[in-house]
Amino acid sequence: MKSQMNGWLIAYDTAGEGIPLLLIHGYPLSRKIWEPQVSGLASYAHIIAPDLRGHGDSDAVPGPYSVDMLAEDCINLLDNLGVTRPIVVCGLSMGGYIALAFLRKFPERMAGLILTATRASADSPEGKVNREKAIEIAETLGATAIAESMLPKMFSPATYEKQPRLVHQLQGIMAHTSVEGIVGDLHAMKERPDSNALLTSIAKPVLIIHGNDDQLIDVSEAQRMHQATPASELVIIEQAGHLLNLEQPSAFNLAVGQFIKRC
Ligand code: MLT
Repeated sequence: MKSQMNGWLIAYDTAGEGIPLLLIHGYPLSRKIWEPQVSGLASYAHIIAPDLRGHGDSDAVPGPYSVDMLAEDCINLLDNLGVTRPIVVCGLSMGGYIALAFLRKFPERMAGLILTATRASADSPEGKVNREKAIEIAETLGATAIAESMLPKMFSPATYEKQPRLVHQLQGIMAHTSVEGIVGDLHAMKERPDSNALLTSIAKPVLIIHGNDDQLIDVSEAQRMHQATPASELVIIEQAGHLLNLEQPSAFNLAVGQFIKRC
């Protein structure tokens, strides 16, 4: 389905009934990564899974983007869909950065927060230089080159060995992302603020969930966020990398389903 934004169309999937659960994908991905959650969590929640601007079937809006802008897109979609009650926001990786921006800007619209395979800190100076290099690669060589450079880091070693179809599917999702979306995201991630202080003052239920074999964002980031966030819950999933929700969907859905019941 698609919804009209300010001059562009956002694509989204929706399923189920109950407390709204917003699923925000990471970089350079699309809502397709949430397929096991759209089917597996529909009995727990009203799921809303958008393609961020420039991703999947949403329009390729030129950048630069910011995490605040991407959080505002999510709020505008919720408003278009008539979702007014507080929601659970689940963001994966860059989606987690956007979920934290959502919390900063719209705390009254949030009933709970799920930080998946993400971190609270801003980019280091070296990280910012790497974002600039990736922007150059995207602009000169396109999405396929970005997909090739990202692919070896997205899953656990076990998944590369045992689930070749999933690896192939992911390559397709990444290569389908528009250059506008990739470059827009890289600007947003490079300029995102540090959220460590925000974590210490969260007054909402928080679930932090991470793959033990995440090669892109080390599991120690999740442990650090858990220590900093009062009353947070930490779930580490074995034999799972950065895309733990695709690699171990049953364990992921169980943890999220139980958390939703508590929100
Ligand atoms: C993501 O998976 O969303 C990004 O790779 C995270 C990042 O680069 O910081």
